[in-house]
Amino acid sequence: MWLVAVSVPLLPAIVLASRRYHVQLSSLCLRALGWVLRLLRRGGVCVGSTHSFVFSNCTHGKVDSVLETFDLYAETHPSLSIGPVIGEALDAVVKRVRPSRVLELGTHCGYSSVRLLRLLPPVGRLITVEMDPLTAELGEEVILVSGFKHHQFQVLTSSSAEAVPALRSHLEPDGSEGFNLVLMDHDPLLYLADLQALEREELLCRSGCSVLFIDRKRRAGGLRGILDHVRARSDSSCSVRTELPSLLEVFYQKERAEGEAEGI
Ligand SMILES: C[S@@+](CC[C@H](N)C(=O)[O-])C[C@H]1O[C@@H](n2cnc3c(N)ncnc32)[C@H](O)[C@@H]1O
Ligand SMILES: *[C@@H]1O[C@H](CO)[C@@H](O)[C@H](O)[C@H]1NC(C)=O
Repeated sequence: MWLVAVSVPLLPAIVLASRRYHVQLSSLCLRALGWVLRLLRRGGVCVGSTHSFVFSNCTHGKVDSVLETFDLYAETHPSLSIGPVIGEALDAVVKRVRPSRVLELGTHCGYSSVRLLRLLPPVGRLITVEMDPLTAELGEEVILVSGFKHHQFQVLTSSSAEAVPALRSHLEPDGSEGFNLVLMDHDPLLYLADLQALEREELLCRSGCSVLFIDRKRRAGGLRGILDHVRARSDSSCSVRTELPSLLEVFYQKERAEGEAEGI
């Protein structure tokens, strides 16, 4: 009550000030609103809005419709999905490699998981790792809505660092063979450490494995650490195969490298 009593005499001054500075005030308000929205989005609102848009606007059971609805969402909203341009570059690699065991780090809402799954053979399997439990749940639902079944994929709710050492048990019964394709789209700062962990755990298939790194910010030298690592390997069992602005493909093939060495 006292607040009202105090502010009534001040009202003309407030009105005058807001008239005089309304441009500055409104731009200040807009900036504050932007900050709040960005904060909310980081807290999971973005993944929820992507999920509900896709879930309610796609035709359930139709992979192409799911992907198109994601692309439609990304036309008008900020989105973390790789999108159609990187998606097509990814498709081309998958069609060439024809993998049956695929690992993805960074599920998010399931866009790239669905893109990968639709190109796998009937016996193919995708393991996708997502650190955030809510995101993992929503991503899994989108993959199911696309028509894929649990024998074709598994979403692991875990950080990549914790997931990698436990991956072999998820690859049974032929866990010894490792993955033929790995897609990293989780955190560029962790790409090198996670790649080294995959090498250490011998999870990259000896007869050939493509490891793909997404670099959406296209920062100069963003993947420099990976490139240096590949070039520094003395056993020459890995090499850069594709280098696009936002996609890097490193190819591992142990057996052929040994065969070549014998042939010299
Ligand atoms: C850019 S989004 C992935 C987009 C997805 N590949 C697509 O195209 O739909 C990155 C995701 O990785 C997750 N993430 C970040 N760091 C991670 C980590 N260390 N381990 C597992 N997931 C991580 C984030 O929670 C986020 O959902
Ligand atoms: C479905 O799409 C329409 C038209 O693009 C959009 O206005 C609506 O918000 C979407 N539904 C949800 C739940 O996001």
